[in-house]
Amino acid sequence: MTRQAQATILGIETSCDETAASIVVRDSAGGAAIRSNVVRSQLDEHAAFGGVVPELAARAHVTYLDHIIAQACREAGISLGDVDAIAATAGPGLIGGVLVGLTTAKALAAALDKPLIAVNHLEAHALTARLTDGVQFPYLMLLVSGGHSQFVLVRGVGNYERWGTTIDDALGEAFDKVAKLLTLGHPGGPAVEATAKSGDPKRFKFPRPLLREARLDFSFSGLKTAVRLQAEALAPLSDQDVADIAASFQAAVAEVVSVRAGQALARFKAELPDHKPQLVVAGGVAANRTIAAALDKVCSAAGATLIVPPIALCTDNGAMVAWAGAERFALGATDQLDFTARPRWPLDLPDMKVASDAA
Ligand code: KG4
Ligand code: ZN
Repeated sequence: MTRQAQATILGIETSCDETAASIVVRDSAGGAAIRSNVVRSQLDEHAAFGGVVPELAARAHVTYLDHIIAQACREAGISLGDVDAIAATAGPGLIGGVLVGLTTAKALAAALDKPLIAVNHLEAHALTARLTDGVQFPYLMLLVSGGHSQFVLVRGVGNYERWGTTIDDALGEAFDKVAKLLTLGHPGGPAVEATAKSGDPKRFKFPRPLLREARLDFSFSGLKTAVRLQAEALAPLSDQDVADIAASFQAAVAEVVSVRAGQALARFKAELPDHKPQLVVAGGVAANRTIAAALDKVCSAAGATLIVPPIALCTDNGAMVAWAGAERFALGATDQLDFTARPRWPLDLPDMKVASDAA
């Protein structure tokens, strides 16, 4: 049965290297208000290692999560007892971190006698555009982050079809690896984008993997190898060489992503002819201006609407988890306290379905 009342939800996110908590209120008409959204990034902890170290990430979540939750409540002007339910990312992600957030949520739920909502992190990304832009179902989501590169048809809460994914590296991971190779630092995406500004995107014609195939999947590892071979052939690299490689790499991925998006939109129009095509972008790579501009062009050509939520809500945060929790809570979908954390959790598993929806 659908619940109509307004709900105040605490959302907790600890699946990677952001410790985050947020208070979101969903009103009875489905409107949203972010009352607080506190994110503590662990960039400094991991910088020296050139990537996220899972054990360090989990320890930092343990150290900071309680304070972040207290701050989220303080900024929202409420106390924990005022929340209607507690939502936490229960996977997929680095399991040590997920356990910290989920266990904290369970403890709070038990102590406060409030419902628990175990949120799929990908669902949280998928529903963010409804929090920020009130986007109506159905829509196509392109999730491009450090861990995922997927096209997902979002039909409703808990109702997803994965149309394509990466068969090797995620797009953000490819940016990070190219940045490491060019010694640009971590995280690599922003560094590659900044360096590419003074580069020639046409100097190197890097491969566009899988582009000739009809499937909606990605592959970035061959491209990464081509970049490495080019860098080795030119070594020692001048600043201009580095900028040209960064720009040429970025041009290759922007083309791959936008061509794929065009194909995915064509499928959307063919399969859902009664709905206007909408493309929602999520994940940290959405911050990339070259990729966003390429997607904008493709959407215009396809007569589709492009929705890119504010970047702070595209990258990992607690508000998206609170919102996914709020959407589930409104449908009566809460979870038991013995819910198990899941390192892998594809969006299109049958147990994502909301019981009241399926009925
Ligand atoms: O969504 P996110 O914050 O975290 C998860 O992976 O869940 O995404 C981080 C990824 C990193 O790989 C980072 O290099 C990439 O997003 N990224 C970018 C840009 N900003 C962040 N990639 C390309 N261009 C950017 N401007
Ligand atoms: Zn994420």
